[in-house]
Amino acid sequence: MSDVLTYYGHATWGLETGGYRLLVDPFFSGNPLSPVKAEDVTADYILVTHGHGDHIGDTVGIAKRCDALVIAVSEIAGWLGKQGVKVHAQHLGGGFHHPFGYLKMTLALHGSILPDGSYGGNPAGFLLTTLGGDKFYFAGDTGLFGDMRLIGEEGVDVAILPIGDNFTMGPDDALRAVKMLSPKHIIPMHYNTWDLIAQDVQVWAVRVEAETDTRAVILQPGEQWTLPEG
Ligand code: NI
Ligand code: MN
Repeated sequence: MSDVLTYYGHATWGLETGGYRLLVDPFFSGNPLSPVKAEDVTADYILVTHGHGDHIGDTVGIAKRCDALVIAVSEIAGWLGKQGVKVHAQHLGGGFHHPFGYLKMTLALHGSILPDGSYGGNPAGFLLTTLGGDKFYFAGDTGLFGDMRLIGEEGVDVAILPIGDNFTMGPDDALRAVKMLSPKHIIPMHYNTWDLIAQDVQVWAVRVEAETDTRAVILQPGEQWTLPEG
């Protein structure tokens, strides 16, 4: 069963796995890189890493239209639940067997206030083990932290890391993260959305492949990528 990732630009991802459609941090309205509008996407599940507008994005509208279940930390789940969205609350370090796989929330070094100023709890990342046994690490917005080593010990197939700098890890720290995680594939995100986080991603990819055994996969907004079998 193949896993198909779609990059919508910035930190917004689609993942088809096990017959389910997942969205991660569905930021379409106001996302200068997104090739599609929020109305054009569908989802069974929406994963939200933290409360910032460029991550919670269009969650409410898409979740209601698609009757999707949103998975987030309890503070964000509570905020969404009050708006009539179906939610499943987890918290850092906790995993749960959802129909699409085992999803664990990981720590992230960042902030998480919600768009209306509500408290969003701790920011998070997601470590997903698909039904087929593939592991995807969506780091969310984060700085470098040494416990990425612990995540790497689980055997990551695909790590999706921010490299934009300023708000998150920059290219140098993201390269150190790759060395700690030792994933089979690294896909960069959270860059080139605005001038403040402009990066030369091709140069970074060359550094990754020169210094590690990890394959760097650069996706253009709108591009799909299928995880190779095995
Ligand atoms: Ni953020
Ligand atoms: Mn962000």
